[in-house]
Amino acid sequence: MTGLTLKEIRKSYGSVDVLHGIDLEINQGEFIVFVGPSGCGKSTLLRMIAGLENITGGEMYIDGQLVNDVPPSKRGIAMVFQSYALYPHMTVFDNMAFGMKIAGESKQEIDRRVRAAAESLQLTNYLDRLPKALSGGQRQRVAIGRAICRDPKVFLFDEPLSNLDAALRVATRIEIARLNEQMADTTMIYVTHDQVEAMTLADRIVVLSAGHIEQVGAPLELYERPANLFVAKFIGSPAMNIIPSTISDAGAATTITLKGGRSVTLDIPTAASEKGKTASFGVRPEDLQIASGDDYIFEGEVSIVEALGEVTLLYIEGLVPGEPIIVKLPGITDTKKGQKMRFAADRSKLHLFDAEGHTYGR
Ligand SMILES: Nc1ncnc2c1ncn2[C@@H]1O[C@H](COP(=O)(O)OP(=O)(O)O)[C@@H](O)[C@H]1O
Ligand SMILES: [Mg+2]
Repeated sequence: MTGLTLKEIRKSYGSVDVLHGIDLEINQGEFIVFVGPSGCGKSTLLRMIAGLENITGGEMYIDGQLVNDVPPSKRGIAMVFQSYALYPHMTVFDNMAFGMKIAGESKQEIDRRVRAAAESLQLTNYLDRLPKALSGGQRQRVAIGRAICRDPKVFLFDEPLSNLDAALRVATRIEIARLNEQMADTTMIYVTHDQVEAMTLADRIVVLSAGHIEQVGAPLELYERPANLFVAKFIGSPAMNIIPSTISDAGAATTITLKGGRSVTLDIPTAASEKGKTASFGVRPEDLQIASGDDYIFEGEVSIVEALGEVTLLYIEGLVPGEPIIVKLPGITDTKKGQKMRFAADRSKLHLFDAEGHTYGR
């Protein structure tokens, strides 16, 4: 049984194309996260799945049924928005019960489902309260509870945590992860621009930019093997360092000359025809270490030290003027501004992208 199939899905508003042909298979029970920069089309795609936006082109199937022209109420979908969208004059119980009342469920069934949802979201003690007497996190849990009561086949979330403060965001994120375990057969699609949410919640992440898919994969797959420069820079924080370079020797291993003159050999194969071409060398801040001998990738001067306790970030000037390389070292270091340092990295952690930004090899 499949969950959802998107075939060549397109969306235009007038003459403006917002989604340029999205192809995606989502399995039943999967937790899928859409990430991407603001304006790339995440909400639009989610709203099209919900049936709240019409589909300009392509086909959408839910459980094998073509749903392009099926109204939202007939799609078996529930959606949770960033702005809880609760009825202010109704109690928590009535907010959660509302959809079932409209659907004509029996009083007994409504009571059973509301209490079960309230129990799993720790809202039992708040059922008689109005939304204004709840915290932001509790309100969002009511919105989630209301969606659960509809017993959806597909559960959609559009940045549900972005109105919450940091501590509540973590607590509610864990709540959603737990919910996902309890509702193992329910497909969940979750939109966020927060990569911690994406990395921790997703079975698979869909990275979107400017209305198309850049890559689909498990969180660590995207982190370890980004398909292109966009994904490489988008996943991971601080972002991967990118250094302009030229391929000086192609083959089973590739040697490049970094801007600034130093050469580096990578365990990444390139075709002989690539020799002489420009490329982008990538290394993550957390994959760099202080070099002990002559085997280093680059050297430079410390321009900023950010001691965060758990890690220390160093900004190293010396390769490309005005574009410091960021190094993330574990714990606290006694590094000082102005110090000259050399850095190395494990060969297996290095990345190489061609002039179009595609990853070489792997
Ligand atoms: N109703 C609309 N009319 C015209 N343009 C829209 C409409 N809704 C969204 N857009 C445009 O579509 C693009 C994608 O928007 P959206 O899906 O909200 O992005 P995201 O959720 O990734 O931030 C944006 O450029 C936005 O301006
Ligand atoms: Mg959005």
